Amino acid sequence: MSGGGIVFYGVGVGPGEFELLTLKAERVLRAVDVVCYPSCKAGGSSYALRIIKPMLDLSRQRLEGLLFPMDKDFARLIPIWRESARVIVAHLKANRSVAFITEGDPMLYSTFLHVYEIIADEFPEIGVEIVPGVSSLGAAAAAGRVALGQADEAIAIVPATYGKHELKELLERFDTVVLMKVGAVLDQVLEVLDELGLRDRALLASRVGTKQEIVTRDLEAYRAKRLHYLTTLIVSKRAVPLVRALQEEAAQTKLDIGRAPRSAEEPADEDRAPGITEQDRAPDSLVKAQAGPAR
Ligand SMILES: C[S@@+](CC[C@H](N)C(=O)[O-])C[C@H]1O[C@@H](n2cnc3c(N)ncnc32)[C@H](O)[C@@H]1O
Repeated sequence: MSGGGIVFYGVGVGPGEFELLTLKAERVLRAVDVVCYPSCKAGGSSYALRIIKPMLDLSRQRLEGLLFPMDKDFARLIPIWRESARVIVAHLKANRSVAFITEGDPMLYSTFLHVYEIIADEFPEIGVEIVPGVSSLGAAAAAGRVALGQADEAIAIVPATYGKHELKELLERFDTVVLMKVGAVLDQVLEVLDELGLRDRALLASRVGTKQEIVTRDLEAYRAKRLHYLTTLIVSKRAVPLVRALQEEAAQTKLDIGRAPRSAEEPADEDRAPGITEQDRAPDSLVKAQAGPAR
């Protein structure tokens, strides 16, 4: 289907809802000869495959399950990833177009990255096209109506492989912290949130986009419970919405945002450089007020 040379497609299929598949992902997935999907045990199911299976034509398209065990021992994992890469390359060399599907976005903590790196290194003649997908971060933030980052806020995205001390440091340093793979360590995270007084700033999002979706701020309800692997926690330290905070700050400093220019030196709005916002010209104290932890 590539029209010239063999192409290996890495396709993000979004967080779980068919409508969140991109038009490009749909076009590629309908057209390829082979759809490879990751599975954590041989013959196991695949979350990514469940999202797209209804639109495949299995009389023409072939499914290929590839093994990606949930293991942290790289000495065991690498030969398994290499075997998956070998299967993909064999299809491509037989002139069959291949798409490897990945839940969410392929460039964010995905199994695709492992095989992609091996193929790109060892088979540079193979063309690769990566189709981005809606990541679980975006989907969870939208479902919970939490801004991941606004204005000059800094975001940290981390898998749940941190200790309490590291987590504390991250929460102190960043405006928003997204904890991926949080399902198995929620209790430990709750302790840190309580120590920092941030419990009410956290949103738990699990299996977003599916019928089993959970989006809640009631973290207590999930203490001592093992949550699904597809669970994310977003801690957004901003307690007051930015626009309201700016307005309140402006009211206190008697700055009338949106007022007409008062002097000849101050340009009218239409004369300002493009891209300069009210916030850019707000006094330093106002801008800095957004950066500290107490909001
Ligand atoms: C291996 S990473 C894959 C991330 C994926 N590539 C993405 O772009 O979202 C798996 C982690 O992503 C998050 N995740 C993936 N899908 C999710 C969903 N539907 N709802 C909530 N979190 C999800 C969870 O934190 C999960 O442990």
